[in-house]
Amino acid sequence: MNASVQGHAGSNLTANGPALLSVDQVSLEYRTPQRVVRATHQVSFEIDPADRFILLGPSGCGKSTLLKAVAGFHSPCEGQIRLQGQPVTAPGPDRMVVFQEFDQLPPWKTVKQNVMFPLLASKTLQRREAEERALHYLDKVGLAAFADAYPHTLSGGMKARVAIARALAMQPKILLMDEPFAALDALTRRKMQEELLLLWEEVRFTLLFVTHSIEEALVVGNRILLLSPHPGRVRAQINSHQYDLHSLGGVDFQASARRIHRLLFDEDETVQAEQSLNFNDIRIAY
Ligand SMILES: Nc1ncnc2c1ncn2[C@@H]1O[C@H](COP(=O)(O)OP(=O)(O)OP(=O)(O)O)[C@@H](O)[C@H]1O
Ligand SMILES: [Mg+2]
Repeated sequence: MNASVQGHAGSNLTANGPALLSVDQVSLEYRTPQRVVRATHQVSFEIDPADRFILLGPSGCGKSTLLKAVAGFHSPCEGQIRLQGQPVTAPGPDRMVVFQEFDQLPPWKTVKQNVMFPLLASKTLQRREAEERALHYLDKVGLAAFADAYPHTLSGGMKARVAIARALAMQPKILLMDEPFAALDALTRRKMQEELLLLWEEVRFTLLFVTHSIEEALVVGNRILLLSPHPGRVRAQINSHQYDLHSLGGVDFQASARRIHRLLFDEDETVQAEQSLNFNDIRIAY
């Protein structure tokens, strides 16, 4: 492997070291002249290197706002976010974001130019190395043959792959994804989940992934943070490393999905869950 494509943060840190990302008692608000909207209330979690960490909760519970805060686009009004011990105060190339929208790729740039752009704009690499790295990651997402194509000639799934390649090419310390497959049809969405897991097996990046699909959370994540409805508070944290796409439809998988549904939407579930679940699997927040 070429030196320019090595060095992913998740690949060379030990699992037992300090948390890569810590979110400590973070409250986030939107202030308009008319009112203040509290999006999350005192949310805490930690992400370790090579985690596939999921934020799961109903619409409006503050998932995207939390992701934006980790990305450095939104400052907490309370609490602190730290990346490798350093407070997050602004966006940076160590936290790359993949959004849901199909139009996140400038249409006047080819696929390769799109992937090269952040590498050049951030002065991470010179043109020749940037091109080499862009081609490497396009190959990883199966789009080497489309390097010179323009985004409007690609399917939704292919555009999502370009956005993933563009983010991974920056070799961020953490990859942030906000419902990246939500706008895709069901079959393509499943395929993208599978490809993301294969890519993770190969590259071992650290992922913070937002979804409101319980099934997607169980398939993609190794740990899931459940957030209550607006304003988002931590309801529970669940280990889900035992599931992948092959688990879909299985009895155990279905039971976990139902349990998560109850935890998210039933006020009484906290006590029941505590009694029926192994403490290795779940931590309930009070
Ligand atoms: N720009 C904004 N100005 C004011 N309020 C906002 C703004 N953006 C979001 N909010 C409010 O903050 C809360 C959290 O929004 P957020 O988009 O983070 O939720 P979400 O969990 O990502 O929802 P969804 O699943 O629908 O994407 C909501 O009540 C929303 O109305
Ligand atoms: Mg959102």
